[in-house]
Amino acid sequence: MRYGYFDDERREYVITQPDTPLPWINYLGCQDYFGLISNTAGGYSFYRDARLRRLTRYRYNNVPLDCGGRYIYVRDDDTGAFWSPSWQPTRSDLEAYVCRHGLGYTTIGSTYKGIEAQARYFVPLHENLEIWQFTLTNRRQGSADLSIFSAVEFCLWDAEDDATNFQRNFNTGEVEVEDGVIYHKTEYRERRRHFAFFGCSEELAGFDTQRDVFLGPYRGWDNPTAVERGRSFNSMAHGWAPVGSHHVKVTLKPTETRDIIFVLGYHENPEEKKFDPPDSQTINKQTVKPVIARYLDETNIDTAFEALCDYWDDLLGILQVETPDVHTNRMVNIWNAYQCMVTFNLSRSASFFESGIGRGIGFRDSNQDLLGSVHMVPRRGRERILDLGATQLETGGAYHQFQPLTGRGNDRIGTGFNDDPLWLILSVVAYLKETGDWAILDEPVVYENQPRTEQSLYEHLQRSLRYTLDRLGPHGLPLIGRADWNDCLNLNTFSDTSGESFQTTTTKDGMIAESVFIAGLFVLAAKELTAIAQWRGLEDEARSYLDAAAKMEAAVLEHAWDGAWFLRAYDDFGRKVGSQECEEGQIFIEPQGFCIMAGIGLQDGLAEKALLAVKERLATPHGIILHQPAYTRYYLHLGEISSYPPGYKENAGIFCQTNPWIMIAEAILGHGDQAHDYYTCINPSAREAISDVHGCEPYVHAQMIAGRAAPTHGEAKNSWLTGTAAWNYVAITQWILGIRPTYGGLQVAPVIPSDWPGFEATRVFRGVTYRISVERAGEGNAVSLTVDGQPIEGNIVPSPQGDQAEVVVEAILG
Ligand code: GLC
Ligand code: GLC
Repeated sequence: MRYGYFDDERREYVITQPDTPLPWINYLGCQDYFGLISNTAGGYSFYRDARLRRLTRYRYNNVPLDCGGRYIYVRDDDTGAFWSPSWQPTRSDLEAYVCRHGLGYTTIGSTYKGIEAQARYFVPLHENLEIWQFTLTNRRQGSADLSIFSAVEFCLWDAEDDATNFQRNFNTGEVEVEDGVIYHKTEYRERRRHFAFFGCSEELAGFDTQRDVFLGPYRGWDNPTAVERGRSFNSMAHGWAPVGSHHVKVTLKPTETRDIIFVLGYHENPEEKKFDPPDSQTINKQTVKPVIARYLDETNIDTAFEALCDYWDDLLGILQVETPDVHTNRMVNIWNAYQCMVTFNLSRSASFFESGIGRGIGFRDSNQDLLGSVHMVPRRGRERILDLGATQLETGGAYHQFQPLTGRGNDRIGTGFNDDPLWLILSVVAYLKETGDWAILDEPVVYENQPRTEQSLYEHLQRSLRYTLDRLGPHGLPLIGRADWNDCLNLNTFSDTSGESFQTTTTKDGMIAESVFIAGLFVLAAKELTAIAQWRGLEDEARSYLDAAAKMEAAVLEHAWDGAWFLRAYDDFGRKVGSQECEEGQIFIEPQGFCIMAGIGLQDGLAEKALLAVKERLATPHGIILHQPAYTRYYLHLGEISSYPPGYKENAGIFCQTNPWIMIAEAILGHGDQAHDYYTCINPSAREAISDVHGCEPYVHAQMIAGRAAPTHGEAKNSWLTGTAAWNYVAITQWILGIRPTYGGLQVAPVIPSDWPGFEATRVFRGVTYRISVERAGEGNAVSLTVDGQPIEGNIVPSPQGDQAEVVVEAILG
């Protein structure tokens, strides 16, 4: 069943039924100011850091679902009837409800009793504010007297404190109201320099800022007293819960249309200019007023909206493809690229499933997110790499997570995830291949954000590699530490106390349990570092990295081949994990993907065997599960992985991020049909038709789809913020379509399905536009390239000399 449809022309997903299985959300904002918005206007906003600078309040896991948002009520002043054009929170019986999620904006509208209403929400580029452009049209025979009420509930900034520290927080709320603008200034009297504002373009009939006055005792957002009675209370919040609500009265003749604009935003003042007059407690509004005025003016809004659309056109224009498969086109050209940007911006911080107070920026996560976004935002990618490098420790290890606002490592989670540092190599490599900006390797970068510890980024990469080599176990394989990519494979935790964190409990010294996944990742990273050293003419270093890779490869072949697939790990007793010898968890997906991506087993047929085992044992119609059989009970020596019921999350769920590793491995082996079949199984657009099973948005990937062992096999959770976005993008664009940046030029090496006659692509690479057409002439994957009409050797298109802006590439496959 479907709840809407794709409008590819407008790059929108159109939801036509408000009660989707879960809130289907979108993101507003591209740089500092962000918001989540659901298809019924639920969600919240924050400035840079979803935990520390939360503008509006949202109650997770609420009943009814998804309550709290950017609400507008319309009231018919002749009858007293009122409703929400976005369906929530009143959930009236709307006619013609439509939500359009676009790139960086969402419009939600409907008709009710002859009144058409639509709100367009977006964040202008380079501004710390959001616009709600609300349009009302009277489709009745007679004129309509209407009241419009806006409503947001302010968060008292630190979202965690806001949800827990009520003995203080019920006393701190403060607002100002001036010229119809509501200013939320809790804690501004003391150490904060920032405040929120909420303005309206129309003359107000009234306002409210005290939630429980606006709503009335024991009422919810579905029937606020102020709206019901048709008149605001002009309440001023003191303590309790500050809200912002404007009341505007409108009379519309038949067919008449009226726009009302609301602007909600964030502003900071310098310490010495906080108050005006200086010895007062009143917010100095000198610099904020012009900003508010600018965006209450409709012409500026239209210009800002066009600029936003241009921004996305430019980003997505860097790679556009035309293949025979509509789902591939839609994801590559629009939604997967868009999701990559959202994960680049937000890491795993704020979604419908990530509360914004938990995680901040993940070291491993953000390095991987970069793989799918660096071609769109290379300059920001560069900054991100340097920021990530600066949280690395002198040992080469890394803080697993850090807060974006402070750059400080998250002490609650700490360090010791032994795969973490290696991901930095992969992100730097992706950046270098995309940009050719070798100078980044010489950038001085501190450790652990400590001044005067600077060393070159290249040295950081070397330490990443050494970190693994300094921590080898009994079989010469990397020690796993707290966990590797699989956060829940906790081989040193041995936690038998309920409630104890699997992420921080340490029971063992960690000198025995080894990870084959890290071994594969290491070999891949060491080979990449070899190539870097070679390009820089550092032959000795290149040789030493290559030796290290070869040694690790030998250790894998000797100790980590289980007969038909790669082992997953050795546990703290030196026993195998992910082996036919095991009762449960006999085969895992991760080492199959990473060992093959690292080139292990390509020559001797092991890779073929491992992929066959994946297909036979792990593949399902909904995607490839993480391992099999699922763990049916809790194992002290395996940790969190066995804490989940079978089929969910790390316990044999379809952890979508790992699937592209297998797609890439299949492509490396030349299996285009298989690679693309796996791609289609988890492609959200291809799953749109089973939206009632899938549950999550059909336009973005989810982290997890319930595995075969779960009663809800096929149900997705944790949409949006997942490494699935970047890896799927890499798998389809670089390995299946085969358009890969390399140091020496743009490689064209497609491994596409056998029944595709070919495809076309446009790729902007280092400032040059490549117009690529691929034509299948035979069954194989051998490529013959013609560049601007001239046949060339190999499959790498060299960068053109001089200022040639466009290159025409024809590839014959066969
Ligand atoms: C989550 C985490 C990621 C981890 C994965 C597997 O997606 O964000 O860091 O690798 O789970 O446990
Ligand atoms: C990752 C996993 C999740 C686990 C968490 C750490 O995000 O996906 O299952 O609970 O790490 O606790």
